[in-house]
Amino acid sequence: MAKKKPMKIATIGGGSSYTPELVEGFINRYDELPIKELWLVDIEEGKEKLETVGNLAKRMFKKANLPVEVHLTFDRRKALKDADFVTTQFRVGLLDARAKDERIPLKYGVLGQETNGPGGLFKGLRTIPVILEIVSEMQELCPDAWLVNFTNPAGMVTEAVLRHSDFRKVVGLCNVPIGMEMGIAKLLDVEHSRVRIDFAGLNHMIYGLDIYVDGESVKDEVIELMTDPDNTNFVKNIEGQEWEPAFIRSLNALPCPYHNYYYKRPETLKKTMESAEKEGTRAEVVQRLEKDLFELYKDENLNIRPPQLQERGGAYYSDAAVRLITSIYNDKGDIQPVNTMNNGAIASIPNDSAVEVSSIITKDGPKPITVGDIPIAARGLVQQIKSFERIASEAAVEGSYDKAVLALTINPLVSSDVLAKQIVDEMLEAHKDYLPKFFNR
Ligand code: G6P
Repeated sequence: MAKKKPMKIATIGGGSSYTPELVEGFINRYDELPIKELWLVDIEEGKEKLETVGNLAKRMFKKANLPVEVHLTFDRRKALKDADFVTTQFRVGLLDARAKDERIPLKYGVLGQETNGPGGLFKGLRTIPVILEIVSEMQELCPDAWLVNFTNPAGMVTEAVLRHSDFRKVVGLCNVPIGMEMGIAKLLDVEHSRVRIDFAGLNHMIYGLDIYVDGESVKDEVIELMTDPDNTNFVKNIEGQEWEPAFIRSLNALPCPYHNYYYKRPETLKKTMESAEKEGTRAEVVQRLEKDLFELYKDENLNIRPPQLQERGGAYYSDAAVRLITSIYNDKGDIQPVNTMNNGAIASIPNDSAVEVSSIITKDGPKPITVGDIPIAARGLVQQIKSFERIASEAAVEGSYDKAVLALTINPLVSSDVLAKQIVDEMLEAHKDYLPKFFNR
């Protein structure tokens, strides 16, 4: 039965351009999720963005005629005090740091992105100490609250909380699974709500092991459509999923767009290098997009999420986020793909590690559905990435140079220990200001 206690939500990184998405999600589900207060927290450097986004949030709730109070603050502790849910969407070092994550590895001919390869490692090294600080403040100020993390690399961040703190009320969230579901719905021309996928793997390394419409498996049909040379529909609908038919037929599972980094490495590297040259890295493109978005947000007449926000990769994440919070709050027991403790759901991954799997969502959080194991063809890669994430999160917590080099050496995108060391050295120096554990000893 739904509880009716009014709620307090604290969003860390509240000045993010994604916040209007989240607000829209809260508006759409207000009947089930009676929010009383939304606290948007940011750092002083982000003052202008926080105010702009905060004012838009206030206008959006007003237009929806909902009595939600929006508070803007730099005081994280004040925001956390007695919160029911905490969402995290902050970026340590802002987009400038992401641009370095993406550019530096390219000099070495290595793919770098905010969750994969060296970029993923360094975003993790910068983010993990901060998330652990937040968790320890939550234990003091709102011990019953759930932490819903979107900050990337979401898998590694969830892993760090699970293995390096005794806080258990954490869920990592991503928009990739929901994007895959929507892609399938479009492909089959059915409503999104009729599609369900059995997901298993890791964040940004997730596979659809089975696909259903109204409870009937349609995986064979989907694979057939994906391998039909006359069907260009799939390619148009799910970008980056143009797989070799022989590969996809025998894999017999649906890969996610981030698998391009591993199953199409030279092609993806070439594309990434060309676009970095032409229009800049993704971070540089996003910096321009953000400028335009914030100009729109400033318009006093704007009181909805502008459609232009869909140009960001994280589109629809609010749907996933608010759907999750609503299910925890209302003890729904529905199935959603989230990052949570494995606890035996995937046999070949350590029990205490984070995995991204379809889980039953109740007031006690996600209960991962036992998968058995990842198909043998995908298992090795998943295990290798999990080892990378585990060692990378240890490096972040300990400020360990050796473990940072080890993590990058075992990452499939980096081909040698010498190369890994060179990249780590250059990136440590570039991100010095945001890596106190490595420099203030
Ligand atoms: C995706 C990922 C997110 C990521 C986003 C980046 O869809 O799932 O983890 O944050 O893209 O989008 P951006 O517009 O910042 O490149």
